[in-house]
Amino acid sequence: MKTAFQSIKGTFDILPDKYVAEGTTIFGSSDWCFVESKLRETFQRFGMKEIRTPILEPTELIARGIGQLTDIVSKEMFAFERGDTNYVLRPEITAPVMRAYLEHHLDQKGGPQRLFYIGPCFRAERPQKGRYRQFHQFGCEVIGSPDPRADAEVIAAMMAVYRSFGLADTRLRLNTLGDAESRPRYREALRAYLEPYAGELSEVSRQRLRTNPLRILDTKDEKERRLLEGAPVLTDFIDHESRRHYEQVKMLLGDLGVTFEEDPYLVRGLDYYTRTAFELESPDLGAQSALAGGGRYDLLAKEIGSEEEVPAVGFAAGMERLFLAMAAQDKSFSASPNPDVFFVALGEEAERWAVKMANAFRNEGLIAVIDLKGRSMKAQMREANRQNARFAVIVGQDELAAGEAQVKNMQAGEQKNVPFSDLLRTIRAEREAMIASEN
Ligand code: HAM
Repeated sequence: MKTAFQSIKGTFDILPDKYVAEGTTIFGSSDWCFVESKLRETFQRFGMKEIRTPILEPTELIARGIGQLTDIVSKEMFAFERGDTNYVLRPEITAPVMRAYLEHHLDQKGGPQRLFYIGPCFRAERPQKGRYRQFHQFGCEVIGSPDPRADAEVIAAMMAVYRSFGLADTRLRLNTLGDAESRPRYREALRAYLEPYAGELSEVSRQRLRTNPLRILDTKDEKERRLLEGAPVLTDFIDHESRRHYEQVKMLLGDLGVTFEEDPYLVRGLDYYTRTAFELESPDLGAQSALAGGGRYDLLAKEIGSEEEVPAVGFAAGMERLFLAMAAQDKSFSASPNPDVFFVALGEEAERWAVKMANAFRNEGLIAVIDLKGRSMKAQMREANRQNARFAVIVGQDELAAGEAQVKNMQAGEQKNVPFSDLLRTIRAEREAMIASEN
């Protein structure tokens, strides 16, 4: 069937079955459900609870939270105005979660809050493999603790997620960004170092030299990388307390058996970080190699209007990138649940009987499907087959008269007559035996 409309570039439909669009495998809705439930299980094991915040947020929250000069705020926001309010489709979920924490006084609930989330985010980036305009993040935020154990816990939760999907081939990079003063001091030192080379920098980096020189550290340009080899390193500008914090985080990660690489060039693309910053990469992702990223953001709360500092740390990950990494490693998910029973009904009376009987089966917890097209027996059987039903229950005029249905085990191909009164019990018993032999 033709349509005049297509989904917007960089967004995609999640269909019941997986399909390939623009070279990317888009997993099916049952895969999403499976992954989401596994994520919930993992987060809950850390005592984390789910939070859901709106997709629309005040633009000012995001601009102040993430930082005016970041790429996300300066170039990638889907923002609009209605009346005298400015709205943005959230590009991430950390600032919204902190807003909710402050708005609902979650600090008064006692103890730090351990919150996790799963949901869509929006960034007007140039779409490519692993980079979309609507994508989905999952992540967690531990709010209200300055303790390095919170940093280690968040990283442990992140690692546990990927382990639960059998993805062990990842690379964790770690750095400390120091306190509120460390970064500005380093920024100026880096600017002073790069200024004389401004003419040799790319246009993007030249612009960043003016606005946000730290972002130049992310450059993939070989010449610029060489230039950076002689640059001052952030590590030398870190305050004593942050250093101590960093040492403890590393020690705890060691205790947990989490391997990491220290990377003094890791700065992250959001401005709210202090102290710990980290990124998890997968060799299977190509150019967009980051599976997840995060860090400590003790100053964000004040940045968005809190009178007090609220220490916090968290991570977020791209759901689509998890799928890409899984696809690259040929990892599969649980099969989508297929019908237990497909009712093949012939004639009006039998159709009515099937509507009723299918519902009785559903009430007993089985997946039951009927044909809705009044097709021939052959066509209905074909449909039962296509849907991978375990059993077909065939009923026509004769069966109604005899009070018996023909039950076909679709895997074994065997068929037998079963009295209506015994239908549910028989099918349930055979289904259980089938499942036991599958495991
Ligand atoms: P982020 O590094 O901007 O951090 O995003 C986290 C993850 O979201 C990335 O590692 C990537 O997997 C995924 N992602 C980002 N942009 C896209 C995109 N356009 N298409 C597909 N996937 C994407 C944050 O958002 C912070 N809020 C993380 C955090 C939580 N920090 C503390 N707590």
